[in-house]
Amino acid sequence: MMIIASYSIKGGVGKTALSVNLSYALSEAGQRTLLIDLDPQGAAEFYFRVSSAEKFRMNDTRTLWGGLLRNVRETDFSGLDIIPSNLAYRHFDIALDSMEKRRKQLRRVLEKFSEDYDTIVLDCPPNITLLSENVFRASDMILVPVIPTILSQRTLEQLDSFFRDEELPVERLRPFFSMVQKRNNMHRDTISELSASFPQFLKTTIPFSADVEKMGLRRMPLLAYSRACDAAQAYRALCNEIIALQETVS
Ligand SMILES: Nc1ncnc2c1ncn2[C@@H]1O[C@H](COP(=O)(O)OP(=O)(O)O)[C@@H](O)[C@H]1O
Ligand SMILES: [Mg+2]
Repeated sequence: MMIIASYSIKGGVGKTALSVNLSYALSEAGQRTLLIDLDPQGAAEFYFRVSSAEKFRMNDTRTLWGGLLRNVRETDFSGLDIIPSNLAYRHFDIALDSMEKRRKQLRRVLEKFSEDYDTIVLDCPPNITLLSENVFRASDMILVPVIPTILSQRTLEQLDSFFRDEELPVERLRPFFSMVQKRNNMHRDTISELSASFPQFLKTTIPFSADVEKMGLRRMPLLAYSRACDAAQAYRALCNEIIALQETVS
């Protein structure tokens, strides 16, 4: 079983759009896939028309992980399940803080799914928190959407330094360019500069596209309603690139 995180320090960069479309594309490619919505905002579950998880309090290890594990739901798409988010996740850090091995809990808990799924995709909230540290240690691959602007460059550098300072596996960080505007000069320049300084960048870039924004109206993955548009093709190409990498990692 492989665990893939969709993560960035920044919000609004395309993490959820990636999680939703990548999970869908992986399940279409025949992988039994579980998407876990770790963001209390619950955007991923919204796109799959799945209702929020039952309410639970997270005051100790058992209720925290038990509540998560109990809430697996089927989506409308075969081979793709989801664990919806929970408002209680806003207390994740406080709950984790009081636990033993507080940075390594998530991997251990997710191992319980190893018989049932080929891939788990984690849709993460922004910021660097104790939960993100669990995500970094749990994931075989950390996909980081980067909008090609100066500010995104800075946050990617911050993330890279954090990994080096904490001796986390930097090679698992796989950034890719998100919401790219081909005609924007700053985007073009930032892409060439950043790809030179970060060799881990994935080859596929996701274009800025109104088709992606319509996911909010259609409430399903882009790949389920607009298979041929540029952005859908880009998500499929990104998925294929990731599948090829999975084979080298596993
Ligand atoms: N490639 C894209 N082109 C245009 N809009 C996008 C694209 N990807 C995401 N969006 C839109 O940008 C907003 C933020 O995307 P989202 O995936 O929710 O980001 P995050 O999860 O990082 O906060 C959403 O309204 C989404 O529809
Ligand atoms: Mg999100």
